[in-house]
Amino acid sequence: MKETYIVGNWKLNPVTQHEAVTLARAVAREAAKRKLAEGVHIVLCPPLPYLAEVAKAASRLELGAQDVFYQEAGAYTGAVSAAMVADLGCQYVIVGHSERRRIFGDTNETVNKKLKAVLKSGMRPILAIGEERRDSFDERGTFTGELDPALKDQLVEALAGISAAKVSTMIIAYEPVWAIGTGHAAKPDDVLSVRIFIKKILRGLYSTSVANNVPVLYGGSTDSKNAGSFLQEADVNGLLVGGASLKAGEFAKMAEVASRLLAA
Ligand code: PGA
Repeated sequence: MKETYIVGNWKLNPVTQHEAVTLARAVAREAAKRKLAEGVHIVLCPPLPYLAEVAKAASRLELGAQDVFYQEAGAYTGAVSAAMVADLGCQYVIVGHSERRRIFGDTNETVNKKLKAVLKSGMRPILAIGEERRDSFDERGTFTGELDPALKDQLVEALAGISAAKVSTMIIAYEPVWAIGTGHAAKPDDVLSVRIFIKKILRGLYSTSVANNVPVLYGGSTDSKNAGSFLQEADVNGLLVGGASLKAGEFAKMAEVASRLLAA
């Protein structure tokens, strides 16, 4: 069966648990209204302190964390482990989001450790990779055919020492940093090129079947209007959604678009 993942990354929002619960309930309600096709996964990734209440408020939806630390226990003030969020009902963890890399100092090496910790706890990591600058695109925004080497490094270094069996449970999200929160999404055609590039790297590191099995998502200024073009023209297996995931109706509409395409 084909699967599509519509993942809401709430980031540092909303500002109270009450609002988080209200939003989770609203997404659940809007999703239920739309009778989505089987195979459409709606994943909510709220801030860590809201996980338990969001899990209760939207028990039909799936739950993810935005990050975890890679150690299991010990003297790591402020840290939260993979096992802790798994225990709260998380099935997914976003790892390596560009905001974590830029603001909190995550490197390919720590991303690799986090992936291993998430996999060890039996959850599915959503590994986010993406180039910083728009160098691969000319002044008209057209792909020049030369991908930023950082993209390959992010993928290869993140996957170091991870077995084919484990990688097959992962999800990869391509999120060009310049497209995040800017209102300037990448072009579906270019996302398709990157998707093929990612698959080729996976084939080289593992096998054709691993490359075929790992879902690739797109993220960066997606909404209900452009969702269909990414899912269809870029052939991605879902979307990692920031801003639009905070609007229940809009987010559910994106899932509806995914559902229609899946059923077609
Ligand atoms: P955006 O964020 O949809 O607001 O661009 C995407 C993300 O950071 O995951």
